[in-house]
Amino acid sequence: MKRTSSYLMAALALSALGTALAQTSATDEIAKYRQLLADGNPAELWEMRGEELWNKKDGPREATLEKCDLGKGPGVLKGAYVELPRYFKDVNKVMDLEQRLVHCRVTLQGLTLEQATKTPFGSTANQSDIEALVSYITAQSKGMKMAVSTRHPQEKAAYEIGKKMFFYRGGAHDFACATCHSANGQRIRLQELPNILNKSNAQAAYTTWPAYRVSQGEVRTMQHRLNDCFRQQRFPEPVYGSDLITALTMFLAKNADGGTYNAPALKR
Ligand code: HEC
Repeated sequence: MKRTSSYLMAALALSALGTALAQTSATDEIAKYRQLLADGNPAELWEMRGEELWNKKDGPREATLEKCDLGKGPGVLKGAYVELPRYFKDVNKVMDLEQRLVHCRVTLQGLTLEQATKTPFGSTANQSDIEALVSYITAQSKGMKMAVSTRHPQEKAAYEIGKKMFFYRGGAHDFACATCHSANGQRIRLQELPNILNKSNAQAAYTTWPAYRVSQGEVRTMQHRLNDCFRQQRFPEPVYGSDLITALTMFLAKNADGGTYNAPALKR
């Protein structure tokens, strides 16, 4: 209860600051928000729900996800996320966290692909199990260093495809990811655009997702962030959990190698 009321207080403080945000430097204000919520990121509520879901029997097989292998052995969550995406022998391909989770829900719990990918992005009225599970799992890597491998040929291939995508120009504006994310100090209005080709920028960008987005009142995953960027790029919305997204995520994750993982975070 105490937790909840402190979140409410924080939410009130945030809406009061909302107007100020529009007028002053967004970066300064965001730093203040972070300070404000430093020991009470609402993402913790997602983490708690994710933990419940992980341990809950579900699907036609009445199974939990406790035997799900995210790369470090069945049920091992600690440090799993900082090594993803990675090659999985059992499916003979590279998967990112969201793809692997779907795989576990299908193979362990017996859900259909449609059921397992239902509501990747939630709202208050329609909560997303995926966002909760991803919050719980990623939180188990907090404080650990990003250590993504490109040793396996398929990992290397995924990285190269992701890189190609990053530079691939198209759409109504002839934009690539690189148009907005390959120079230092670029901005759109008040938003600073990370230069993904710069190590420390790439680390800061990658190690802070998923994040509780104050503007949306929801925890959002990396896939949601990328969808929003594809939209800004005037590209069609990618299929949820597609191999293409895994490849792009591989490129981003590898560029963040060595960075200290620090999410679920808090963002505007
Ligand atoms: C038209 C410009 C534009 C294009 C093109 C674009 N993005 Fe973005 N990107 C943004 C903006 C704006 C943000 C939000 C920055 C903020 O909120 O501070 C963002 C944020 C991000 C972030 C999160 C950064 C962080 O620190 O939270 C990542 C990662 C990212 N973009 C990757 C990509 C990738 C990969 C592509 C290509 C598929 C892409 N972007 C295409 C404008 C763009």
